[in-house]
Amino acid sequence: MADEKFKVTIDGIPVEVAPGTTILNAARQVGGDIVPPAMCYYSKLEGSGGKCRTCLVKVSKGSEKDPRPMPKLVASCRTTVMDGMEVQNITSPDVLEARKGVVEMLLINHPLDCPVCDQAGECKLQDLSYEHGVSQTRYEFKRRTFEPIDIGDNIKLHMNRCILCYRCVYVADQLTSKREHGIINRGDHAEISTFIENALDNDFIGNVIDVCPVGALTDRTFRFKSRVWFTKPVNAHRNCPTCSGKVTLWYKGEEVLRVTARKDEYNEVEAFICDTCRFETKKTADWVLEEPTSISKQSVIDANHYDVFNPPPVIKKNLQLQEANEEQLERTERLK
Ligand code: SF4
Ligand code: FES
Repeated sequence: MADEKFKVTIDGIPVEVAPGTTILNAARQVGGDIVPPAMCYYSKLEGSGGKCRTCLVKVSKGSEKDPRPMPKLVASCRTTVMDGMEVQNITSPDVLEARKGVVEMLLINHPLDCPVCDQAGECKLQDLSYEHGVSQTRYEFKRRTFEPIDIGDNIKLHMNRCILCYRCVYVADQLTSKREHGIINRGDHAEISTFIENALDNDFIGNVIDVCPVGALTDRTFRFKSRVWFTKPVNAHRNCPTCSGKVTLWYKGEEVLRVTARKDEYNEVEAFICDTCRFETKKTADWVLEEPTSISKQSVIDANHYDVFNPPPVIKKNLQLQEANEEQLERTERLK
């Protein structure tokens, strides 16, 4: 039946979804804190998911017909819902404990070089470690290391930072005409390779930068130019014959430091953009500006991007504090 719906409960919140929907996408239909994190799943890339295990959840009731719980935690990006299924994410201590372990595992080889990494401030592993990480690692062996390499004129690969999510491989496979990029070897030896280090010079290959959840693939035209939180993102578009031409321009002063695709709340691009838009049109005159990009209040990129100064109520009510900061108070009154 075309309009058949399955009833699912996620962390006690009921939602009705079409059969075939994954638990992760059912949770995204509810939104908010109950949505499991996803480091490898990417809704626009076919076959993605099932690699990182950050999206683990507990199925405490399998379905209306078979209410037995699933014996192990499952990857929510790869498990489809059943009618009457009950799922626990943030309400399950087992899930939170397992996620800590997954983060520890992802960080085994990932260097803590956030102070010099261009992805800092928009790195999903950084967010994940902040929310679920532990302060110490139990890993005592030698970490695997690689030299950073240039893959093409515009992309830098820092394999040390790669978490082998395969998103960039799917981009190369599904968006470009010539497949020159993949993962060679397996297990601890697995690494991203461009097959004899061929330059990646396809029209849409710059999208590997946007889909990479960490700083393993970065934009060489933007590297080390600025910390991302000192830039101001603005949505813009141009009439592009190759892609939608809808982008975000990242300004510092009057200079466009980089161009990226626009991203949604799950850090996925709204539409992939071509390399001409990304790397070759970096003047304001190339674009029709729309509005400042909306950035989540939790993001460090939002820092200093306030519209109105609103002092917390404690200052408004506390006479001593008011006197101590007359200037601030006056400014507040002026802005009311
Ligand atoms: S380079 Fe980035 S996108 Fe590619 S597999 Fe590694 S982490 Fe994923
Ligand atoms: S997002 Fe589900 S396994 Fe990576």
